Amino acid sequence: MASSKITDVLLRVSDLEVRFPAPSRFSKARWIVPVNHVALDLRRRETIALVGESGSGKTTTGKALVRLLKPWGGQILYNGSDVARWSGRKLHQYHKSAQLIFQDPYGSLNPVHTVSQHLSLPLQLHQSQEPGTLSEKIESLLSRVGLVPVQEIRDKYPHELSGGQRQRVAIARALAVNPEFMVADEPISMLDVSIRADILHLLQNLQNDFGLSMVYITHDLASAYYIADRILVMYGGIIVESGDSGEIVKKPAHPYTQLLLAATPGSPVEGPLPETSTGAPNLLLDRQGCVFYDRCPHAMARCQVSQPQLKSIAARHDAACYLYDDRPSEALGH
Ligand SMILES: Nc1ncnc2c1ncn2[C@@H]1O[C@H](COP(=O)(O)OP(=O)(O)OP(=O)(O)O)[C@@H](O)[C@H]1O
Ligand SMILES: [Mg+2]
Repeated sequence: MASSKITDVLLRVSDLEVRFPAPSRFSKARWIVPVNHVALDLRRRETIALVGESGSGKTTTGKALVRLLKPWGGQILYNGSDVARWSGRKLHQYHKSAQLIFQDPYGSLNPVHTVSQHLSLPLQLHQSQEPGTLSEKIESLLSRVGLVPVQEIRDKYPHELSGGQRQRVAIARALAVNPEFMVADEPISMLDVSIRADILHLLQNLQNDFGLSMVYITHDLASAYYIADRILVMYGGIIVESGDSGEIVKKPAHPYTQLLLAATPGSPVEGPLPETSTGAPNLLLDRQGCVFYDRCPHAMARCQVSQPQLKSIAARHDAACYLYDDRPSEALGH
């Protein structure tokens, strides 16, 4: 964690909303809202983790942040300007500052391009003023992400590399344009368990060395705790809890975070999971009440009526849950 180096805000996101047409079986509702009034700050040199189960809206949020999709509403203030509405040349410029690393390193690489070819295009696009020929810059990037010997690796095709090596190529390609921040969308979930820690280490080192900010997307609270300064827990398109990583893991407040943590091997609160429904979150625009109501072991009458807002329950710790409306400190054990 790089807390001491974290400085000012790079991205300030408020009220971010993404809508997609609802699947036709929902005859009345026209939209699903997989990103629902999301607010977050990403500071320079900071890593935040977006954690949540499948379908909670993590990837959609990540794509909106790097503007691979246009939000329905809200603001993404980047160095003070709202990139949510940018298009054309300005958006093209932004795409150099904001890079996305995908979950599937094989799918994200072109099978008929060598490693070198994957890096040449972004390097040329970036037109870096750093000294050295294109070939030297490719070699420097490859060694920076641990792809050695570079002379051998540079001419290989994706199918000649291991999963971990392919993810390193994807990371090198993202770095080639000298971005200010990266969204790493489950970058280790498709890799062998044995090399996951290596890739996490690499991301952490690069983040430190290049002074990057990072949004790390995962299902897994343990890896989020390992790599991130702050954790934001998402459920049904809503940030239900956020706080410093240690605080979230040691004092999870939202019932969904508690459930996630209880299901994490080695967690301090490991134990029998409460019996709840396992249905997918309801993302429909016209849904009512708390997004976690159907699964919440503590659901109260008011939870069925309206969605609790994210609010402070302790220093640098927010939760969207009516449990903490009246007795925050007591309920949390602070
Ligand atoms: N282009 C799209 N058109 C319509 N619906 C979409 C689109 N992309 C995502 N969705 C829906 O939005 C919801 C959130 O998807 P998203 O991929 O953001 O979730 P996620 O948290 O990343 O899940 P996972 O952990 O499985 O990757 C899902 O219900 C998904 O089906
Ligand atoms: Mg996803």
